[in-house]
Amino acid sequence: MAKLWAGRFSKTTDETVNDFNSSIPFDNRLYAQDIRGSLAHSDMLARQGIITREDRDAIHQGLTEILAAMDAGEIGFDPAQYEDIHMCVEQLLTEKIGDAGKRLHTGRSRNDQVALDMRMYVREEAGHIHDQVLHLIDVITDVAQNNTETIMPGYTHLQRAQPVTFAYILLAYVSMLKRDARRLENTLEVLDECPLGSGALAGTTYPLDRHFTAETLGFSRPCDNAMDGVSDRDYCLEFLSDLSILMMHLSRLSEEVISWCSWEFKFIELDDAFSTGSSIMPQKKNPDICELVRGKTGRVYGDLMTLLTVMKGLPLAYDKDMQEDKECVFDAIDTVSMCLKVLPDMLSTMTVLTENMAAAGRRGFINATDCADYLTKKGMPFRDAYKLTGGLVARCIREGRTLEQLSLEELQEESPLFDEGFYAAVDLLNAVKRRNTWGGPSPEQTQEQIALAREFVKNH
Ligand code: ARG
Repeated sequence: MAKLWAGRFSKTTDETVNDFNSSIPFDNRLYAQDIRGSLAHSDMLARQGIITREDRDAIHQGLTEILAAMDAGEIGFDPAQYEDIHMCVEQLLTEKIGDAGKRLHTGRSRNDQVALDMRMYVREEAGHIHDQVLHLIDVITDVAQNNTETIMPGYTHLQRAQPVTFAYILLAYVSMLKRDARRLENTLEVLDECPLGSGALAGTTYPLDRHFTAETLGFSRPCDNAMDGVSDRDYCLEFLSDLSILMMHLSRLSEEVISWCSWEFKFIELDDAFSTGSSIMPQKKNPDICELVRGKTGRVYGDLMTLLTVMKGLPLAYDKDMQEDKECVFDAIDTVSMCLKVLPDMLSTMTVLTENMAAAGRRGFINATDCADYLTKKGMPFRDAYKLTGGLVARCIREGRTLEQLSLEELQEESPLFDEGFYAAVDLLNAVKRRNTWGGPSPEQTQEQIALAREFVKNH
């Protein structure tokens, strides 16, 4: 089929060039945005007296039918027939309604058209992913709610460090996800400018009402500078960077779950429906979902790097390189949405093995700081208390004992400050309850964090 732009050409496009150049195999997913943009553009053209009311009505009728056919999957997106989704819709419209269809593109370029379509698509998908993040926050908060007194070791350097609760660790991920949601909100705020009406690069000689189309399409305003309007892909980059950071968080959570499932930790057990087996080792139950999330994180980083690299050397205004914005953004959206679909159900169905967590807490001297704090509160300088406790830990390691197994006499040999109160001071639940500073792991503080998480989900 002859190209819509074939006017100045005397040869048809080479077949390989056609395949190379076409974006319809992937940009067909922008069809609804493309049609919505054209509906608004034609409304505006008629209001401004640039096309007639009758042409506007025919365009609306035709576009509405095309939208329904595309929704129903009745249109094939063949690159031999259509170069991209914009040409496809216009060709179909003109086949349907004749000359009125040929008037649709008055005062418009594919450059501002594609800039609009992509921006609307990213706006919608960022909204979906934002809502998926809120759902994940809710699910993790539910698990936290049930585990505010589930004692386990907190780690630094992957060494047992101090007593915390399972709720407290989960709520750390909730804090990360709250920031992820806010980053997406910020991206939505920054992208809230409409590029339609920018033309190819220099606006247009027709008396377009850009404020009308911006408002019709749900934007706060048209973009300030038309040349920037057609060449700006910052919102794609911001979105990909939001998704990369989000995936980094999901990957870290996945890494923890992988560890917690191992026989070395055995802090949780995933539901059978969310685990996979081995083809040879009958005993295996693998956390494949988490490993895939961890792996796909690399893929989303790649999507960000792809677009950063595509954009870095481009002169103003539109360059065809920018067609390469689509597959990486689409891939990141699909990948992140899948991860956010599978993780909540995996987390809400896992079994928390609280006794194993508590047992790990009893080994590893995670109450050593509490012993030192106990002596410090009795009047010993902290540095001395720290040293004395270190000596007790070394002795316990030699003798295969724990701090709370030392008798009062043995303790008093080291310092007369020890009394019966020592045992309560190094009790793990007490130790957690006393870590009651704002943002801390005590049940009282984690309840506060849970309330903040619920509040956040309600207001965002
Ligand atoms: N398919 C193109 C893209 O995705 C549409 C814009 C083409 N504009 C142009 N002047 N060739 O970027």
